[in-house]
Amino acid sequence: MNLLEVQNISKRFGGLQAVKDVSFSVRQGTIKAVIGPNGAGKTTLFNLVSGFLTPDSGAVSFKNAEIHGMSPFEIAGLGLSRTFQHIKLFSRMTALENVMVGRHVRSRAGFVAGMLNLPWTRQEDREVRGRALEIMDFLGIAPLADSEATSLSYGQQRTVELARALASEPSLLLLDEPAAGLNMRETADTAKLIGKIRDRGVTVLIVEHDMQLVMNISDEIVVLSYGEKIADDRPLTVQKDPHVIRVYLGEDDA
Ligand SMILES: Nc1ncnc2c1ncn2[C@@H]1O[C@H](COP(=O)(O)OP(=O)(O)O)[C@@H](O)[C@H]1O
Ligand SMILES: [Mg+2]
Repeated sequence: MNLLEVQNISKRFGGLQAVKDVSFSVRQGTIKAVIGPNGAGKTTLFNLVSGFLTPDSGAVSFKNAEIHGMSPFEIAGLGLSRTFQHIKLFSRMTALENVMVGRHVRSRAGFVAGMLNLPWTRQEDREVRGRALEIMDFLGIAPLADSEATSLSYGQQRTVELARALASEPSLLLLDEPAAGLNMRETADTAKLIGKIRDRGVTVLIVEHDMQLVMNISDEIVVLSYGEKIADDRPLTVQKDPHVIRVYLGEDDA
């Protein structure tokens, strides 16, 4: 079953066609990657799917419901969660509190309370705290729970972000360059975590620059070039595609 269906979506910024007539689908229980050179339109595509941008044309459906035109909040409430290419953690809050904010995405009042750091009821707080800690433990960062989020190392902050995205218990998780800025060991750890997240039943759509990571963990790969889809297949097939090799893998020769 396809959890996500993207049909012929396009987005223009002034004179720039950032995403052009892109269609693809993501099967439930799989890891799908979107790759392509810088500026290919990957983040724009994620913004279109998660409601941060509205497509000029085309359709996006998630769990068979049309979601284009919905707000990011509404889409998150349906079970689609995301991380950002640039970390967006709340400062002056602990790692745990940041993860708890993610948990509150299903209730607007709770979400706003989390953003503003307002008190929750005790019962609610205990439930949310317990669940957030469980997810941090699952990702191996429970010992960091009480540290101020923005005082953590870059790699740790990335994992807190991942925990926050998972805290709403999404069925589809969008990860925008989760390994950007990480060293080799941290990248390998992140790959393992993404596999664990998939094994937990969460479908994953990932934008990533690290080719080895993408080849290792993805079931299927979409390749974008100048906003257009040029390939959509299994990793080994994509890797051998002459068009892909020319526009993407040949990037270093340019
Ligand atoms: N909000 C925006 N306004 C104008 N241009 C944008 C905006 N967001 C992205 N772009 C442009 O759209 C193109 C695709 O960007 P982006 O989706 O961020 O690419 P990628 O994530 O693949 O590196 C780039 O040329 C970028 O400069
Ligand atoms: Mg990007």
